[in-house]
Amino acid sequence: MEDRKKNRADRNRTLTISAEEISNLRNKILYSHDINGKTNFENCLINANLFDIIDYIPNECANLIIIDPPYNLSKKFNSSSFAATSDKKYETYLRSWFSKICMKLAPNGSLYMCGDWKCSFIQQKVISEQLTIINRITWQREKGRGANSNWKNNMEDIWFAVKSPKDYYFNVDAVKMKRRVIAPYRENGKPKDWEESENGNIRITYPSNFWDDISIPFWSMPENTDHPTQKSEKLIAKLILASSKHDDLVFDPFVGSGTSCVVAKKLGRRYLGIEIDEEYCLLGAKRLISAESDTEIQGYSGGFFWERNSLNLQKEKRPTSIIPSRDLFNNTNY
Ligand SMILES: C[S@@+](CC[C@H](N)C(=O)[O-])C[C@H]1O[C@@H](n2cnc3c(N)ncnc32)[C@H](O)[C@@H]1O
Repeated sequence: MEDRKKNRADRNRTLTISAEEISNLRNKILYSHDINGKTNFENCLINANLFDIIDYIPNECANLIIIDPPYNLSKKFNSSSFAATSDKKYETYLRSWFSKICMKLAPNGSLYMCGDWKCSFIQQKVISEQLTIINRITWQREKGRGANSNWKNNMEDIWFAVKSPKDYYFNVDAVKMKRRVIAPYRENGKPKDWEESENGNIRITYPSNFWDDISIPFWSMPENTDHPTQKSEKLIAKLILASSKHDDLVFDPFVGSGTSCVVAKKLGRRYLGIEIDEEYCLLGAKRLISAESDTEIQGYSGGFFWERNSLNLQKEKRPTSIIPSRDLFNNTNY
């Protein structure tokens, strides 16, 4: 994880941790031994095995839960690894924690779970035993490894589920998109459903359940880390803005490099993240410190999500209604 392990190109902005930073960052995260007797988990990043500490987290505390679990693939996550297994065993693995996670969801809360084609049908089965599935988002990831004897794996599913289908929060206005207009249609000489601007013709659209405007983080992005399956801040921002309010608590039980905590903080939500690997937690802690001064989310500007490669169009700033969360991260109250 430290830079000395890798030679990187000059323009590579991948976030790393130096040996000198470690002790300060360790003070920013909680460890299993800090948990006993603790009742308030607001704005905490916890380095622990989920199975060891989930019972300490108060029930119904989370307004939004984002789950990006190990998929049913053999994958090394720094100090730990996940071995691909049979569908049946993966289902058993999901069951071993999912109902406990659901207990942490507020009665009117929402939950998202990410998966690929190999595991998402199993996730669907397990989620629907506990919650009502509202939708499946398909994310065209735009980056995947080519294969000579198969189609490139280029998409993921994100299941959207709620506890109470008649009482959940969804703010579509917070996740509208701005796209370039390819064929600008006019009625009586006036733009129909699009606007002219000095930077080009733009249409505001409702977000669908097919997302083709988000890449995975790559080396030229400041949010990038060496985590092998890091989600991009733009993707997580859509989930958080649509399904939580200011000050709500966002819980991520497999938080990896801290993305959902970082985005929650940037968008003025409280957060709770659990991650088994210490180095990933330290990266998350470093990103949370940066988020105190830098609340930018690449691809989200002026209150809208923008299509890819539209930086020159994104002149507007984020709406003033979004204020980063009050900073409990700096409090060493644990
Ligand atoms: C798919 S990754 C999540 C990546 C994350 N969304 C991000 O943006 O960085 C899953 C994470 O779960 C962690 N993990 C696996 N088993 C765990 C457990 N029992 N308790 C806590 N974390 C675990 C892995 O170390 C890995 O970082």
